[in-house]
Amino acid sequence: MAESFAVKLEERCYLPDPRCRANARVPDYAREYSEFVRDPEAFWDRIAQELEWYGPWERVREWNYPYAKWFVSAKLNITTNCLDRHVAGPRRDKPAIIWRGEEGEERTYTYGELHREVMRFANGLRSLGVEKGDRVCIYMPLVPELVVAMLACARIGAVHSVVFGGFGADALAMRINDADAKILITADVGYRRGKTIPLREIAKEAVSQTPSIERVVVLRREEPAVEIDPALEVDYASLTAKAAPDCPAEVMDAEDPLFILYTSGSTGAPKGIVHTCGGYAVGTYYTTKCVFDVREDDVYWCTADPGWITGHSYVVYGPLAVGTTVVITEGTPDYPDPGAYWRLVEDLGVTIFYTAPTAIRMFMRYGDEWPAKYDLSTLRVLGSVGEPLNPEAFEWYYHRIGGGQCPIVDTWWQTETGMHMVTTMIGEPMKPGFAGKPIPGAVVDVVDKSGNPVPPGTGGFLVIREPWPSMMRTVHGNDERYCKYWNTIPGCYTAGDLAVKDEDGYIMIIGRADDLIIVAGHNIGTAEVESALVSHEAVAEAAVIGKPDPLKGNVIKAFVTLRVGVSPSDDLTEDLAHHVKKSLGPVAVPAEIEYMDRLPKTRSGKIMRRVLKARELGMDPGDISTLEE
Ligand code: PRX
Repeated sequence: MAESFAVKLEERCYLPDPRCRANARVPDYAREYSEFVRDPEAFWDRIAQELEWYGPWERVREWNYPYAKWFVSAKLNITTNCLDRHVAGPRRDKPAIIWRGEEGEERTYTYGELHREVMRFANGLRSLGVEKGDRVCIYMPLVPELVVAMLACARIGAVHSVVFGGFGADALAMRINDADAKILITADVGYRRGKTIPLREIAKEAVSQTPSIERVVVLRREEPAVEIDPALEVDYASLTAKAAPDCPAEVMDAEDPLFILYTSGSTGAPKGIVHTCGGYAVGTYYTTKCVFDVREDDVYWCTADPGWITGHSYVVYGPLAVGTTVVITEGTPDYPDPGAYWRLVEDLGVTIFYTAPTAIRMFMRYGDEWPAKYDLSTLRVLGSVGEPLNPEAFEWYYHRIGGGQCPIVDTWWQTETGMHMVTTMIGEPMKPGFAGKPIPGAVVDVVDKSGNPVPPGTGGFLVIREPWPSMMRTVHGNDERYCKYWNTIPGCYTAGDLAVKDEDGYIMIIGRADDLIIVAGHNIGTAEVESALVSHEAVAEAAVIGKPDPLKGNVIKAFVTLRVGVSPSDDLTEDLAHHVKKSLGPVAVPAEIEYMDRLPKTRSGKIMRRVLKARELGMDPGDISTLEE
């Protein structure tokens, strides 16, 4: 890890409209934060009381470094919080999900309808032999059935592992095998930019490498419907049609696992981050309600795919627990034209909009005329997540989308944290480029290698000091990797990000401190891309780095040495890109591939990506004393 370093801080500040502070759910950040610090257990106890439990907790938390338990011995089911309690009250006929397809087709599920669908599908899963604790892999496009599938698993206590529909067969197979999943739920196709993505074909290829999968449930969308392979496949619609309508929720312990979600590791295979039922429900409920300040008549749109943590926490569990109307779309921001998102905001009267900086930068490039064509005046709160929201993008988002009226919550968090950890709460002064301060409920700091806070203006490591309810509990099948988060810097959870604080305690995220690359907000591990490249017959060795990109934040650049007798060519470059795409999916494809005779290595044989990166960016490579001749 690097030492701490000085950072020049740009200071601009937007003072929010005083009305938005007065009306916010957390009208006084400082007071709420000090209330939390005074008694963290009482703070979380109060919030947890707002959810529905079968039985009380013996203790709010049990902290046995680095292992935490939250709401000890309490019982709940997250789906009764997301569905039943709304259906029992005035939200039965309120839209829970409004889905828009690529060609403009629309489907709406009220809370009552979603509840029924989830129960039927949950019974369908049970009829396939799925029991509490079994792992179910979900590999679907962004359709309402994806949300139904997740909630149906949670209903019966099965642990879902959602794999983003943009991943390739090898990435899917690896995740299925690691989780030892019994059932795979997929669809025949996804639609993207007018093309079809053959999900079922990819799933078939993956399943040929996954002995644990017993059945594959296929949602059939194409007309005429594809033929089902009765030996392995089950039709989604018939499964639901045959199932009983009522499915009482499984009583789950607060610490039972809810899901596994894979995230890239800095070394080796992706990590299966494990989240549990109780703490995760409380953390996502609280942050959705307070960070976005959700009101009864809001129309809430988070553009993330449930294949990522943002989709888990802020498309599915948090917003449904709060009981808001959630917009989802299979469409992309610039198809059929760059007005696609803004048209949706206007058509549906979206009030809360949560997206990624890479999308905002893309909109900036298309020009102000696109958002200007639409009525965006319903928007009330804007959010950002996934990578630093640079000041230019902040300004554009604030003025062109928010009309200079909407607070922007730039939320820093991770798959591992499960919920927001740092942001600027609504009503607080906003500083472009800074995510903000720790949310009430989180103790976040910027420290040196030994865990000492660094002074304002000095860069250091972003850490979290105290446990929080929705923290990951372990890495599936590899607790050592879990412990590493808490063993790297004494007394802290190390997030792996570099950051800096200003005099007011605002935190600016600088970027990753390790071998992860954030490409268009997606977390990609160098190791995975390298091993995909090396699995090509022409490649001897590969090293990949992240290269700053004005649109995507970073792109992947690969340096490759070839096997003896193979020569570089454009055809080979294309073939390598195709190979990575097939194996890992389009997100992991290098934007550039450079052929080299040798890669820079340490004397012990480790590839020095840092040297490649410095050369690429024309920077000082730092200490190269360990570089071999
Ligand atoms: O580097 C940080 C970046 O995304 C990483 C977490 O990635 P992932 O687990 O895929 O979750 C993404 C969605 C929460 C972090 O370690 N990151 C996330 N949010 C921000 C961010 N960087 C800067 N500002 C943010 N708001």
